[in-house]
Amino acid sequence: MADATGNKIAKNYYVDVKVKQDGFYLKGLNGYDWGIQDRMTRMFNKKSGRTVMLAFDHGYIMGPTAGLERPDVTVLPLAEYADVLMCTRGALRGCIPSTVNKPVALRCTTGATLLRELSYECLGVDIEDAVRLNASAMAIQVFCGAEYEHNSLENLAKAVDAGLRYGIPTLGVTAVGKDMVRDARYLGMATRVCAELGCQFVKTYYCAEGFEEVVAGCPVPIVIAGGKKLPENEALEMCWKAIDEGASGVDMGRNIFQSDDPVSMLKAVRSIVHDGETAEKAYQMYCDLKGK
Ligand code: R5P
Repeated sequence: MADATGNKIAKNYYVDVKVKQDGFYLKGLNGYDWGIQDRMTRMFNKKSGRTVMLAFDHGYIMGPTAGLERPDVTVLPLAEYADVLMCTRGALRGCIPSTVNKPVALRCTTGATLLRELSYECLGVDIEDAVRLNASAMAIQVFCGAEYEHNSLENLAKAVDAGLRYGIPTLGVTAVGKDMVRDARYLGMATRVCAELGCQFVKTYYCAEGFEEVVAGCPVPIVIAGGKKLPENEALEMCWKAIDEGASGVDMGRNIFQSDDPVSMLKAVRSIVHDGETAEKAYQMYCDLKGK
């Protein structure tokens, strides 16, 4: 118990030692609270400043997707090589034991399937459940230019508010509507809108022209989705270009879990994202590891 009398005089204030005020290592996130920064640090490697997220939330709109028919069989062996698991709460609770102990980017929007208008979404997870699941981020889909753009932006704003209350970052996921092209103009707008609305990081697609400007115009880190399955060398080439042009990582799904050898593919992607390997070397690594 503290005493009121007889205490040593406090004098070691180190007045000549400046308080360390290093900026936070991730772009645009210096002004955030401890909880947000701590969760971002769990997801983004401090040395490389990047992340390899494994996306397997596809079932929320697609049902059983090729490669995800049994996430307990196909995703679990991949978990140790991913920095973050991106999934729904259903797949998480049902297929991933808590002992896997990986940061989770929790898919928190819902309301549509492939059979209907995809942009007609709402918030589908209470912030309390995100806290209960110890989520490191909430993933919110945004449909700029689509029929229900307004709803998706409202979902995003509400998630950001809730996330700030509890210290959980929000990942804005820029989905491209049926009539929109994945060009720098569109992606630049969509990613910037997400950041302006308060997301701490944004997921988008890579575009062959102008991706550097997309990254530069977004004040917070950008990670890229993989999109439809490509031959492994092409997927690694896309990954390398995105990193080379400023992406802070990937949030890749089908190009990992639909690969002929998902673990080797994930290792090859990691070598680009964290170790700066070229696409050629990463593909060589994939070929060497494949089937072993
Ligand atoms: C799509 O609805 C999901 O957000 C996926 O997580 C996203 O598309 C990334 O997966 P992929 O690399 O397969 O495109």
